[in-house]
Amino acid sequence: MIGIFDSGVGGLTVVKEIKKLMPDVPIIYFGDTARLPYGNKSRETIQKYSSEIVDFLKSKGCQTIVIACNSASSVAADYLREKYSELNILDVVSTGARIRRGKAKKVGVIGTTATISSGIYKKKISKLDSNMEVYTQACPLFVPLVEEDWIRRPETKKIVRTYLRELKLKKVDTLLLGCTHYPLLEKIISGVMGKRTKVITSGEKLAEKLRADLRGDSISIVEIESPAEDKYFVSDLKNKNKKLAGMILGKKIKIKKIDL
Ligand code: DGL
Repeated sequence: MIGIFDSGVGGLTVVKEIKKLMPDVPIIYFGDTARLPYGNKSRETIQKYSSEIVDFLKSKGCQTIVIACNSASSVAADYLREKYSELNILDVVSTGARIRRGKAKKVGVIGTTATISSGIYKKKISKLDSNMEVYTQACPLFVPLVEEDWIRRPETKKIVRTYLRELKLKKVDTLLLGCTHYPLLEKIISGVMGKRTKVITSGEKLAEKLRADLRGDSISIVEIESPAEDKYFVSDLKNKNKKLAGMILGKKIKIKKIDL
């Protein structure tokens, strides 16, 4: 069982990437919808919430944990790895930052205030390639726009344009969507940035790393004969959560509300 968590159902964008590579790998998902957003909360609070979720996933038998939330990955991943040294903990920032130099020379990263102000993406990308130019931009209005299903509104396009103006002026060749919700705005973001900018998500690389980790395990994923059923939990369940989940996964899923 792979335990995957996020501050809400946006982390299903990461589940989608994982399922693209490994359709049969069994997962337990937890979305902390009652306490979303994490992106404007303090490091201490995000660490506390994340730790409670890991306790829950651990109690369900998960030995591998995926932090699908960029905000939690930015400020709580090291804390969780230290606290739960017995678990294999992957996070979307560590894998997302592995941008191969090739066409990418100037990278833009967008995310929540917690992610961007932590400076973690810049630090990790520069550590892997000190010649890479990295520019970052917090886009705190993107999450509520997605949550309210304002994806196709002209106002949203205006806001996207405003936030991305500086990155466009810098002529970044790659734009990393460092937030679970941003893939839902990918079309608008790509349109605003133009054809010369490659837009990538932080979930893609995570799925590759997870596959590599599982292949290294004694039980190969191809040996899973009758995969267990995936389970989806949230801390608060509203219609908009169900709708967003369906939009991301392209199918209806059973979601159960639980108290941690
Ligand atoms: N899941 C968060 C992230 O990826 C976005 C939503 C929030 O702020 O909680 O940063």
